[in-house]
Amino acid sequence: MKEQKKKEPRKRVLSGIQPTGEAHLGNYLGALRQWVHMQDEYECFYCIVDQHAILGDGDPLDLPRRTLDMAVSLLAVGIDPEKSTLFVQSDVPEHLELAWLFNTVAPVGDLERMTQYKDKSMRYESIPVGLLNYPVLQAADILIYRADAVPVGDDQRQHLELTREIARKWNACYGVYFPEPEAIVPETGRIIGLDGEAKMSKSLGNTVGILANEDEVWSQVRRAVTDPQRVRREDPGRPEVCNVYSLHELLTEPAMLPDIAEQCRTAGRGCVDCKRILSDSIVREFGPFRERAEYFRAHTNEVRDILEAGADHARSVSGKTLAEARSRMGLEWREEL
Ligand code: TRP
Repeated sequence: MKEQKKKEPRKRVLSGIQPTGEAHLGNYLGALRQWVHMQDEYECFYCIVDQHAILGDGDPLDLPRRTLDMAVSLLAVGIDPEKSTLFVQSDVPEHLELAWLFNTVAPVGDLERMTQYKDKSMRYESIPVGLLNYPVLQAADILIYRADAVPVGDDQRQHLELTREIARKWNACYGVYFPEPEAIVPETGRIIGLDGEAKMSKSLGNTVGILANEDEVWSQVRRAVTDPQRVRREDPGRPEVCNVYSLHELLTEPAMLPDIAEQCRTAGRGCVDCKRILSDSIVREFGPFRERAEYFRAHTNEVRDILEAGADHARSVSGKTLAEARSRMGLEWREEL
């Protein structure tokens, strides 16, 4: 009997990241490490979402730099342009047109219920409509590639649910065409910052840049807040409630973890020494990134070429989806007229 080997087409992935400049430990643990791992198994599209970023209060003069720095970070952590399509959102204007098409089916009520919208809209006296529509553009980013899966941090689950809702609504009106993509969220859950309180974020200064050198890593990590209840001193301690320990679990060699937990419980090793080990783990993990980043910093033309080639390929896919969506919505000349 002849064995038939059918090659299943690879599932497609899209994810996006804001151009916040150099990526940090939270981006890395919450999403990017996963992006890198998925490259072999999936057909990956990775997008730097500059059109989402213009909703913030960042300086426009600074945006191209922040976009370039994020591209360098992505290349540095191991996003490989030979394997994945890396591009900048505004280089593929098809996303915006699909976002408008989706605006005709996206329910305002759902948009108003988004946690991120509720949080951010409080900061405005007059809320820009783009803030409300932010997730509609995100749905277009994803669905224009008809992606099956979206690796994102925990905070994006709600936006993914809405993406599926938009796909369902659109499919119900115009015939099934868009998939309902699933969120792939790393098991790490929310990454808490070194302050032990808020989500790890650059603006709160409770993180470490992925290109930080040994001294810079240590100067951040040594200030990390350990178990605030200090129950460690009352036997038995609880390494599991300490954020530094949580980070060890994500970054330190698994074989070392039992010792770290034990030394914490028995106060055999002080918090400062425990943080030293964490700092070393981070430096080891980040080591190769710094070398690659240096290369790309010195060859920004190469980065530009990578992004342009990425956008070309992205447009070849997104153009087809858009044409089909337009046609189904009646936005096309018909020969019989
Ligand atoms: N909203 C995402 C964030 O703030 C960024 C984003 C935009 C995104 N478009 C996307 C993430 C598409 C995944 C898929 O992190």
